[in-house]
Amino acid sequence: MRISNPPVASSLMATARSFGNYDLAAALADLIDNSIRAKAQKITISFEPEENDVVVRIRDDGTGMNRDELVKAMRPASANPEDPRDAADLGRFGWGLKSASLSQARVLTVVSWNETGHTAARWDIDNLEDWQMELTVGEQAKKNLSKRPNSISGTEVIWTHCDRLLDKDISGNIDEQLNDKISHAHKQLALIFHRYLSGEAKKNFCIQMQGIDIKPIDPFLSQHPATQTIDDEIIRLKGTEIISVKPFTIPHFSKLTIEEKELLGGDEGLVRNQGFYVYRNKRLIIHGTWFRLVPHGELSQLTRVRVDLPNTQDKDWKITLDKSDAQLPPILRTRLRDFIKGFSKRSVRANRRRGVDLTVGKNEPVWRRNAYNGRIRYQINKDHPLVWQMLSEAKNQEIAREALSLIESCLPSEMIADDQGKNKIEQVQSISDPEAFNALIDAYFLACVAQSEDHPTLREVIEFTKNTEPFSSQWKYTESYIRNTLKTKWKLK
Ligand SMILES: Nc1ncnc2c1ncn2[C@@H]1O[C@H](COP(=O)(O)OP(=O)(O)O)[C@@H](O)[C@H]1O
Ligand SMILES: [Mg+2]
Repeated sequence: MRISNPPVASSLMATARSFGNYDLAAALADLIDNSIRAKAQKITISFEPEENDVVVRIRDDGTGMNRDELVKAMRPASANPEDPRDAADLGRFGWGLKSASLSQARVLTVVSWNETGHTAARWDIDNLEDWQMELTVGEQAKKNLSKRPNSISGTEVIWTHCDRLLDKDISGNIDEQLNDKISHAHKQLALIFHRYLSGEAKKNFCIQMQGIDIKPIDPFLSQHPATQTIDDEIIRLKGTEIISVKPFTIPHFSKLTIEEKELLGGDEGLVRNQGFYVYRNKRLIIHGTWFRLVPHGELSQLTRVRVDLPNTQDKDWKITLDKSDAQLPPILRTRLRDFIKGFSKRSVRANRRRGVDLTVGKNEPVWRRNAYNGRIRYQINKDHPLVWQMLSEAKNQEIAREALSLIESCLPSEMIADDQGKNKIEQVQSISDPEAFNALIDAYFLACVAQSEDHPTLREVIEFTKNTEPFSSQWKYTESYIRNTLKTKWKLK
């Protein structure tokens, strides 16, 4: 005997909300994938705050859907992941639209229009009896839009009852919470779709969020004159399938402007974001990992390796539903490991070349004072050659950086202020012992040697040192030590 045993609608849809660990950016990215597949050129995303809710609208000017297509699109598991797909297809499981949306909202409405007219469909998590879906056409369907369609065809996905987007339990301003999420998502999308936004993957494509065009964030800084790269390496898999791999060494942090550093996630981000950048149809699906092929920190922090996958690889890479994660198929492990080994040597060289920059004579303090929004933070200058050298030689980069952050965050500022206020204790923080100071100059000199291509000359050492703390403030002493002792000790020319 065979009997029908369908899932309970409300339970299945409630489970679908947690498929794939979507955050706001990942959920939006999944809808953008759909829009790109529907040949959209312009996508606009808006967040409209309402009393105790926010309405999110994701509109595209793609091909749109007619009634039957929309009904099918709204069906959970609308496609079989095993079916072959068009090479440019960014979808896979036939769940994206539904689970991405429901991961953020309890009600999903999709309005789509083309030459056949307007159709709207709605899933409401709290009203799912027997898989009943609301469907309207024509004027009735149009009523869901807050702005008239400005393209002959297109689709608007609307999220309401956004319980996951607004965390009402967290005290604090809802607007502020939302703004934080929006700005985080903005940056993520700028990275995920950077090859689309730059025109590489698609001409004249744009995503606008809250009225602002999203500018691409290129994690390889490929247009920067100091970025190094080599030609793509093609790895052939079965049949005609190929994976292309291209390594980049981004310029040393000291060569980046504050804006460039900021774009790449600041000092922390620069270190954390080394690794493979895996793209599926030029859309970033995973980044900042070496897939345990290289221990974190062993390779230069400046290395990023671009891996381009066709979408036929999904099964081998175990692409997850939200496409945010992938595992390396065994056949590729060895190939990539060898590849990385060869490349790491180059990357170390670029890391060293930084020494050249020292001659520019820019001021290198030990502490940086950052004032932001009326708040002041003292941070250890990680570009100080001695600190930089320590970090680059540290066996475990993460621990070394965390230790520095710890020192920064536990700066005994209250005690200092208190002691200075009382004015009774003389603070002796600077090095007053000449032996210790000489040792510091020696260590600094060795750090400079490690960071230079060639052995520095006497003139260069003086240049390197003159503007660096604490030598600059003890310059007379430092200079005489360099000229009289260091020069003979290291046979400087
Ligand atoms: N913005 C859109 N424009 C046109 N068609 C769409 C759009 N979004 C979704 N669709 C249709 O809905 C189907 C289901 O989408 P989705 O649930 O994301 O699954 P998948 O992307 O894996 O196919 C898509 O295959 C597509 O045909
Ligand atoms: Mg999809």
